[in-house]
Amino acid sequence: MTAYTIVDHYHDVVVVGAGGAGLRATFGMAQAGLSTACISKVFPTRSHTVAAQGGISAALGNMGEDDWRFHFYDTIKGSDWLGDQDAIEYMCKHAAEAVIELEHYGVPFSRTPEGKIYQRPFGGMTTHYGKGTAQRTCAAADRTGHAILHTLYTQALRHQAQFFIEYFAIDLLMDEDGSCRGVIAWNLDDGTIHRFNAHITVLATGGYGRAYFSATSAHTSTGDGGGMAIRAGLPMQDMEFVQFHPTGVYGAGCLITEGARGEGGYLVNSQGERFMERYAPSAKDLASRDVVSRAMTMEIREGRGVGPQKDHIYLHLDHLDPAILHERLPGISETAKIFAGIDVTKQPIPVLPTVHYNMGGIPTNYHTEVVTIKDGNPDAVVPGLMAIGEAGCVSVHGANRLGSNSLLDLVVFGRAAAQRAAEIVKPGAGHKPMKGSNSDKILARFDKIRNAGGSARTSEIRRAMQRCMQNHAAVFRDKAILSEGAKKMQEIWRSYDQLSINDRSLIWNSDLVEALELDNLRSQALLTMNSALNRQESRGAHAREDYKERDDVNWLKHSLAWLDEKGGTKIDYRPVHLNTLLGEVQPIPPKARVY
Ligand code: FUM
Repeated sequence: MTAYTIVDHYHDVVVVGAGGAGLRATFGMAQAGLSTACISKVFPTRSHTVAAQGGISAALGNMGEDDWRFHFYDTIKGSDWLGDQDAIEYMCKHAAEAVIELEHYGVPFSRTPEGKIYQRPFGGMTTHYGKGTAQRTCAAADRTGHAILHTLYTQALRHQAQFFIEYFAIDLLMDEDGSCRGVIAWNLDDGTIHRFNAHITVLATGGYGRAYFSATSAHTSTGDGGGMAIRAGLPMQDMEFVQFHPTGVYGAGCLITEGARGEGGYLVNSQGERFMERYAPSAKDLASRDVVSRAMTMEIREGRGVGPQKDHIYLHLDHLDPAILHERLPGISETAKIFAGIDVTKQPIPVLPTVHYNMGGIPTNYHTEVVTIKDGNPDAVVPGLMAIGEAGCVSVHGANRLGSNSLLDLVVFGRAAAQRAAEIVKPGAGHKPMKGSNSDKILARFDKIRNAGGSARTSEIRRAMQRCMQNHAAVFRDKAILSEGAKKMQEIWRSYDQLSINDRSLIWNSDLVEALELDNLRSQALLTMNSALNRQESRGAHAREDYKERDDVNWLKHSLAWLDEKGGTKIDYRPVHLNTLLGEVQPIPPKARVY
């Protein structure tokens, strides 16, 4: 094995990932006087948050009556009651202040004629507990993520956070006592290896959408934090819940914001029928995403898809005023032109449900501390480790996320992480020696992958995984398709032992980066498949054709899935938090979910 020289760094906190959640945590921690390092494999403003379009939810009431309690109710219903109600209460209650804070930091939100933040309707967002339609999604045209990400990055620079850009996080530094003591990373630019020693490590690495063939996610969405947590022996929560966004551009997979339907767009089948009226008579095209994606899939299956293959659906915006399209949806107008070759003012956009978001991830409490089951305690905190954003599963989204609750999750829980870190870490506190470090093991794995001399290219294994996930863990599932998928995915997972790497260099070695990313993806893909096979009910985005109903008696619980070094999966459960925190809202007991 190569003898790697390690460069040691000592910080109060280290944040891995510089998307919306990572940057919000980073600058909050720096602002609190903590020495804060932020590591990112890409330049911060290229993180996937930049692609978020439609907006960020908060019951500001700028466009009509609204209340954070309505938002709380909608989010629980949207989650199909799998969301933790304490965390949902925390998020919805803090939404307005988090958005106003963003406005003050400089996010250029679109405006109403009176100068207030413009808000549009989004799926599943209602007033009066399902009776009216809420305009709750605060938008910067259809480039809200871009606006937020750039603003947060400038705030982080302003507060002197220290950035380590184009550093790839390899693994978590875990002490023998189970606490996390930092992270080891590879500097892609000069090939050096760095050990970031920190009292708290925050995983803000985003989702693992690229486990699938067609996804709206960036190619960098490879679940690097999840991969590291799995290798540290920690469980992943609710991995069976993968969101398909109803409107990915057919063939290309790029996102067409739900805001397009919020502004009045609608879906039609080959008979020109607005079919959502049949599936969701009240919310129609603005039902929650799982409902709309299933309806579209049903229409296609029953022969009412559009196009020569009858394999997609049309989204009409051509009845809307071109000035409105220009002002509020300029980005998707351009996307439709480039990727579908159509003019949205004249033609419908060909769309198809496309993988968009992972509701599952690294389990945390609402302070963003990572939790696991220990000595019978399902909420046992893993000392020194936090997870936020799509990497984490604080479980505000449960079995299905409502559109625009993701940007909110990023900023509310990025901020919560900073507040918690400021409570438990004293700036400049000394770093006690580790009892037993796993640094050697981390470097041995890195070296093994770097020198892999098998016969399978990363791209071949990745393509097999993506096809398998797309075919076997899609909008609808059943035992036969999932069992076959689990068997195939196990073989694909094992085929990584046959990996071949051509380039052994340590400088700008994209061959090695992709292999490390694939290692992270393959484990989360396997846990997704096995968790989906295990859950014998339909709930939110997990639609089992052999168990069509939600089963609260047996399955109102979070799945926790561990993966061992040989690819063996273990599944256990944590209770869903059906309690609230502050006494300002009562828990919402499970009931039928209709839109
Ligand atoms: O449709 C969208 O603009 C996506 C928003 C979201 O996923 O929150």
